[in-house]
Amino acid sequence: MRTIRILLWVMVVATAATMAYLYIVDDKITQGSRQVTDDKLGGEFSLVRHDGDPISDKDLLGKPYAIFFGFTNCPEVCPTTLYEMSTWLTELGEDAEKVDIYFMTVDPDRDTVEILANYLSAFDDKITGITGKRPDVEKTLRSYRVFFKRVELEDDDYSMDHTASIYLLDAKGKFTGSISYGENSQSAIAKLRKLLKG
Ligand code: NI
Repeated sequence: MRTIRILLWVMVVATAATMAYLYIVDDKITQGSRQVTDDKLGGEFSLVRHDGDPISDKDLLGKPYAIFFGFTNCPEVCPTTLYEMSTWLTELGEDAEKVDIYFMTVDPDRDTVEILANYLSAFDDKITGITGKRPDVEKTLRSYRVFFKRVELEDDDYSMDHTASIYLLDAKGKFTGSISYGENSQSAIAKLRKLLKG
């Protein structure tokens, strides 16, 4: 009996330690990006916008931008972020024109131009979707230090785990900060306002 009780405690402590570790790892994704403020995030790329036009790393420069990463089959994080971003853009009003917003897929096999366009039509039309060939997209995600991982589900279905924070970059492509998933609107809008002022 005593042994079982000790074993149970060991399990509780181990679970707590694992969760603490995962939390730290998750936090490091953002921290990691923060450490590269002197670097230009995102290498050279040649991908496709949701309207079918080509888009390259050069197109992202010249104006501050916010970029986040996800996929159209995402059950919660992506639709929530896209919805919240849309409300923040409405709140910014005319100032929203001073910043570009990008949503890059982590699931280019399923997120074709058509699917991305259809999906984004439900949100603010300032949000530009980015997709492309899988190797090109994956290389770009890595250059942004984005975490993404395919997770197998039942019936040959799959989901994607991915970085949930929104990256904020200045007109030169320098990382200036991020908005966390679930961050309150007041704080998020303040960060966007700061971003668009340069
Ligand atoms: Ni998502």
